[in-house]
Amino acid sequence: MAVDNEHDPYDLTGRTALITGASRGIGRAIAEELASHGCAVALAARTADTVQQAAEAIEQSGGRAVAIAADVTEDGASERLVTETVSMLGGLDILINNAGGNSFSVPVASMRLSGWSKTMALNVDATVALIQQALPHLASSSYGVIVNVGSVAGLRGAPMMSHYGAAKAAIASLTRSVALEAAHQGVRVNSLVPGWIETDLTDFLRVDEGTESSVLSRVPLGRWGRSEEIAHAALFLASDASSFMTGQELIVDGGLSAMP
Ligand SMILES: NC(=O)c1ccc[n+]([C@@H]2O[C@H](COP(=O)([O-])OP(=O)(O)OC[C@H]3O[C@@H](n4cnc5c(N)ncnc54)[C@H](OP(=O)(O)O)[C@@H]3O)[C@@H](O)[C@H]2O)c1
Repeated sequence: MAVDNEHDPYDLTGRTALITGASRGIGRAIAEELASHGCAVALAARTADTVQQAAEAIEQSGGRAVAIAADVTEDGASERLVTETVSMLGGLDILINNAGGNSFSVPVASMRLSGWSKTMALNVDATVALIQQALPHLASSSYGVIVNVGSVAGLRGAPMMSHYGAAKAAIASLTRSVALEAAHQGVRVNSLVPGWIETDLTDFLRVDEGTESSVLSRVPLGRWGRSEEIAHAALFLASDASSFMTGQELIVDGGLSAMP
């Protein structure tokens, strides 16, 4: 077989992606990174004007981007997101399930089950629904890829955040299962596992110096990660650079999970 030295494995020209939670933070950085490598991107988030602004910024930098205002936890949202992406961009090759997060801290003993369900709905149920809607399109693409965003909170015990840790651990398992089910269709499925990244989601950990230094003391590289650093790893997983990789977790955490 001839070696193709001309092909840039990170080039996404001609491909399309749907990125959820893309109005700010990690999702926005991923959308910008994919777009800068030639991918046409659909950005989804609940707040219409901010997601529109994020898409416009990409277009102003010469990329192709559209915005879709949607709450991924609403009935029918996953179908609408996939249908609108395909109709506006002409197809769907890459699904980035990034919308997620955690809005409260509480020990299991006093957690309301409604809080547990809400966390699962956002982080797990919406991911499953989007995978179901996207798979037929990804299977008919020559480059079908899913990247599910997990968290280091899902790798070990997550005291006060058991709901979030369990949801992100479910993402890791779901990723492996879907990878095995979809491999024969040529669809690759991996999860991207960020450590502590400086976004709105982690603002509450920067409220005072004590809290912040306690977080950073557990990070061998000794600093917050940047959304762009997660986006670089997302580009790797979304592109041919990772063409022989499926069912895996890629951890980008400044060494946090390597700590004894
Ligand atoms: N930051 C970290 O340290 C960290 C660490 C590990 C894992 N993660 C994971 O990385 C992902 C992104 O986190 P982030 O830090 O970038 O969060 P963020 O800054 O809070 O941004 C969240 C994004 O998701 C959107 N979103 C939230 N709920 C949504 C919903 N129901 N439907 C559609 N869009 C929704 C938000 O826009 P709207 O509010 O307008 O909807 C926003 O665009 C999450 O899955 C998170 O669990 C983050």
